[in-house]
Parts: sequence; C-alpha cells; structure tokens
Amino acid sequence: MRIVVAGGTGTVGRHTVEAVRAAGHDTVVLSRSRGVDLVTGEGLGHALAGADAVIDVTSIETRNASEAIEFFTAATGNLAAAAADAGAGHLVLLSIVGIDRIPYDYYAGKIAQEKVVEASRVPWTILRATQFHEFAAQMFTRAKMGPLHLAPRARTQPVAAREVGARLA
Ligand SMILES: NC(=O)c1ccc[n+]([C@@H]2O[C@H](COP(=O)([O-])OP(=O)(O)OC[C@H]3O[C@@H](n4cnc5c(N)ncnc54)[C@H](OP(=O)(O)O)[C@@H]3O)[C@@H](O)[C@H]2O)c1
Repeated sequence: MRIVVAGGTGTVGRHTVEAVRAAGHDTVVLSRSRGVDLVTGEGLGHALAGADAVIDVTSIETRNASEAIEFFTAATGNLAAAAADAGAGHLVLLSIVGIDRIPYDYYAGKIAQEKVVEASRVPWTILRATQFHEFAAQMFTRAKMGPLHLAPRARTQPVAAREVGARLA
C-alpha cells in the first residue's frame, strides 16, 4: 500500500515511517522540510495521489489555545480534504489521552483536530496515546530559559514513541 505520513520527520513520525516501511509499504512523508506546508496547503497538490491511507502526526509548539486550534484545524482540515479528494481509504490521527478532561491550551487544539477528523469524508481512526518517553527531552529543549529549566509537576504513564509509531502503522 501507499501510506502518507504527515509529520513523518517528527518524534513519533520517524518511528511511524520506519514501521510502515518495515511492513513492506511505500511511504510519502509530508512536512515543511519536505516541501509541504499543510497550513497553507503549499506543496500539497498531488502529494496524496494514489494514497491508500493517511496518518496524521503533525504538531505545533505552542502554549496558546487560539494558535493550537488555528494550526490543527487548518493543517488537519487541508489534509483530510486532500485525502478525500485522492480517494484514500483511511485517515488515522494520533491524539492524546485525557484531552477532554485537562484544561491545557495545546489540548484545545487537539480537541478541534479530533472534530475535523470525525467530520471527514474518509473513514477514520483516532488513537489516543499518553506522553512519550521522549516528551521530557522535548520539554527540556523547548524551555527557552537559558541554563534554568522548570520541571512541571504532572502525573503521566509514558509510552515509547517507537511503540506508538508501530501501533499507528
Ligand atoms: N510528544 C508527546 O509526548 C505526544 C504524546 C501523545 C501524542 N502526541 C501527538 O503526536 C503528534 C506528533 O507529536 P511529536 O511530538 O512527534 O511532534 P514533533 O516532533 O514536533 O513533529 C511535528 C511534525 O509535524 C511537522 N509539521 C509541523 N508543522 C507543519 C506544517 N505546517 N505542515 C506540514 N508538516 C508540519 C514537522 O515537520 P516540519 O517542521 O518540517 O514541518 C514534524 O514532522 C502530535 O499530534 C501530538 O499531539 C504527542
């Protein structure tokens, strides 16, 4: 099969691409570094031609609810529309456990993103995962506070991004 992985260069995206290839399928990776901006639609053109399935593991670094909602609605909206136009058979979205119970700005975007997928013309699956083991390093890198890093207090039961990528595939 031909499987499109949107965000296939990211933390979980890389593992998803690896798992899809290991299962013997062709992959098409969409990301800005590969010339496709899902928010503006630039480069999207015929990128989904012949796609059997599409996996969405895109993300934005933000702690602002409006920015998160704007990004996920536009990016996943454009992707879902292109998947439908291309006749893709399935749309798979990676979401997060507890987004409807925890008032966190980024999660407002994920809830909006789930609604976009649920309204899609393409048959869909939403997988909700917990934080990745890699999430601590992502937070550390993104905390642009010079030599000081604050560790937020949070309860979580993390999972390896590799395992999530395999499950998505
Ligand atoms: N991190 C966690 O612990 C965790 C846990 C559970 C679920 N999730 C979910 O998993 C998904 C991926 O998270 P991640 O941590 O792997 O993200 P990440 O490492 O930040 O990767 C994000 C990916 O999205 C691409 N991207 C960003 N903006 C784009 C745009 N405008 N157009 C096309 N591609 C774009 C990036 O490539 P370019 O920068 O080249 O565009 C990159 O490939 C997210 O939906 C997140 O909510 C994450």
